[in-house]
Amino acid sequence: MSVATLITFDLLVSVLVAVAWLGAGAAAAARRSGIALALFITGAVLSVARVVTAAVLAGAGWWFVQEKITLTLPLLTVAGVAAAATAGPRLVGAVSGGGADLAGRPAVVVPLLGAGYAAAAGPVYALLLGYPATWSAGLVTVALGGAAVLLTWRIVSPSVPLPAPAARTAVAAALAAGLAGTGLAFVPAPETDAGGGPPSGHMAAGHPADGLTADATGARTAGEHAIGTGAGAEHATGVDAMGEHGSRTHGEGGSGGEAAGEREPETRGAAVGDARPVTALRGPSGPAPGGTVRRFTLTARTATVTLSSGRRVAAWTFDGRVPGPPITAVEGDLVEVRLRNADVTSGVTIHWHGYDVPAGEDGVPGLTQDAVRPGQEFTYRFLADQAGTYWYHTHEVSDIGVRKGLYGTLVVSPRVGGPAGSGSGPGAASGGESGRTRDGGSGGPDASATGLDLTLPVHTFGGTTVLGDQDRTVERSAAPGTPVRLRLVNTDNTPHRFTLAGTPYRLVAVDGQDLNGPGELGRTGLRLPAGGRYDLAFTMPAARTVLLAVDDRTEGLRLSPQQDSSGGASTPAPGSGTAGSTGSARDGASWPELDITRYGTPAGTPFGSGSRFDRRFTLVLDRGLTFSGGRPMYAHTVNGRAFPSIPTQVVRDGELVRFTVVNRSRDTHPWHLHGHRVLVLSRDGRATGGSPLWLDTFDVRPGEVWEVAFRAANPGMWMNHCHNLAHADQGMVLHLDYEGVTTPFHGAHGG
Ligand code: C2O
Ligand code: CU
Repeated sequence: MSVATLITFDLLVSVLVAVAWLGAGAAAAARRSGIALALFITGAVLSVARVVTAAVLAGAGWWFVQEKITLTLPLLTVAGVAAAATAGPRLVGAVSGGGADLAGRPAVVVPLLGAGYAAAAGPVYALLLGYPATWSAGLVTVALGGAAVLLTWRIVSPSVPLPAPAARTAVAAALAAGLAGTGLAFVPAPETDAGGGPPSGHMAAGHPADGLTADATGARTAGEHAIGTGAGAEHATGVDAMGEHGSRTHGEGGSGGEAAGEREPETRGAAVGDARPVTALRGPSGPAPGGTVRRFTLTARTATVTLSSGRRVAAWTFDGRVPGPPITAVEGDLVEVRLRNADVTSGVTIHWHGYDVPAGEDGVPGLTQDAVRPGQEFTYRFLADQAGTYWYHTHEVSDIGVRKGLYGTLVVSPRVGGPAGSGSGPGAASGGESGRTRDGGSGGPDASATGLDLTLPVHTFGGTTVLGDQDRTVERSAAPGTPVRLRLVNTDNTPHRFTLAGTPYRLVAVDGQDLNGPGELGRTGLRLPAGGRYDLAFTMPAARTVLLAVDDRTEGLRLSPQQDSSGGASTPAPGSGTAGSTGSARDGASWPELDITRYGTPAGTPFGSGSRFDRRFTLVLDRGLTFSGGRPMYAHTVNGRAFPSIPTQVVRDGELVRFTVVNRSRDTHPWHLHGHRVLVLSRDGRATGGSPLWLDTFDVRPGEVWEVAFRAANPGMWMNHCHNLAHADQGMVLHLDYEGVTTPFHGAHGG
């Protein structure tokens, strides 16, 4: 059974346990001793089953059982044993002796209902609060349970009251627990987390202290971190590491702005030594030697967009189109994008998803800049130093903004032979104005040089799948033998499944990073996380149509062999339906899903599981009631908290950082750290077995545990969030800050 199934199973059983115990109590109160005994036995058996389930779940990681083992199961055990001891013999006696009266006594009813209340705490806690169990929630739970038992006693047995002193003590205890618990809920979270999680991320069941005891106040403080992991000593080496690993600061010196004199009075962030505002961490002013400057102007405005089927969509757009103009460059070029806002009243920014730009170019409102309001503008400048498939999108009220169309693709082609900007890419001579595009918003920078290169962002508008700007099948043709590259970009909040039929192919790059030794694929499903990118490559077959299907439902792209090999690759082949038919979108539904953690060939990486990590952070993703910025909210939580109350992770330039990301919830969470790509170390305790996998967005499905690592070599203040932007909007956002970087902005929203 998978962890996700176990979690669901446990939830189901926990409800049944509560129903059984409560039912036993109710039956006893109604003097139906036979039914009461049957339910009592059911409750007892299911309670034991819960303990067994928890033990199995614990094998997947302490996080999955923490609140069960520290709180709800002990409660159930104590109440269950008490009920068995007091009510059990009386019930048995009543049934065997036929003395039905016995069952109605308070000594039977109250313990049975008490066990029911304790049992109910299981599912209620799991659904409403989730991870982690805190003293606050624990005390409130116990207080509520105690109060319920006292109240039950009064109702069931008005004639046999508890002895007064005992009653007073019980009431006082429940009250005190309740008040203490409520008070603790208002203890603010620490503002920062300096890292230092358990040394062995996956199975950390050996330290329950991490939960109930430690978490009333949340994560560790910097001081505890230094003691706890010995990382304090390692920090001394941070400086060497920085030099050694070539911190990617993108010519921040070139932008002038040495911080000392420029810091604005009200900044937040760790102000140590030579503090730098994030606004000083900007891109260079010129390209790399040989590169050119690619200038684009994007104007955000509302527009009614007509899709290929004729359907009209009320959208928020860049330049009146959806997706926005494709931005292309060749490695070494300087990309300069002037963003203007015509009339998007909530404001707009551009975030370069997956592109490790300097922090000041990252486009996060309230953190790296203010949102661009109507009539305003902002210019982004960064070096195109990562070849591959990326995308851009607004980060201001991004859940709505991206969904409504404020996104586009960013494709950087490798510099082939000779110095950068030798003219291989389109626009190299013209300066790449944004108006110049290929048909359908697709077409990579090197399409003419390397064959057919299609960039296909997938987006959903009102339930319709749109590939590029087409809500109907994209029909293209290519001469047999043409090398084809399809760049799939998921701009939605949930994963998409792709299948490619009609030709063997390879998944050559993930999130812009080339894979090592990717093997040939066929009859395979590719699940692309929200925010992620897959590049597929193949050679156009001679007699078959190649079909790209989305979600086993939509025919996304039909690529037909073209008999005339003059090189034009944009006209639909006449009679494409007759050229070796490839079936329909549904055919791939049964094809197994590719496990990208085991695809390709292993190769060396600059660090790995065995490396010494300077910081370790654990992010347990769940759902629960929490206070978000002071107001109660049923949020998507990280370690039990929601933005902006999740402690900011603090790192130093040059450090090696490890994340353990655990999903306890029933939703998939595509995790995305800005400004860095992470190396996947393991999933569910199993080390990656294929090509090194560098991702900027990784899908943590229910019950999964991912271990990833990265070198902190891009100083700044970064968003670290779920890329289901609706989840982000509901709290699943935190920040990762470099020591010494500050921000003058005060945005309280998650973007
Ligand atoms: Cu594409 Cu903060 O995200
Ligand atoms: Cu999520």
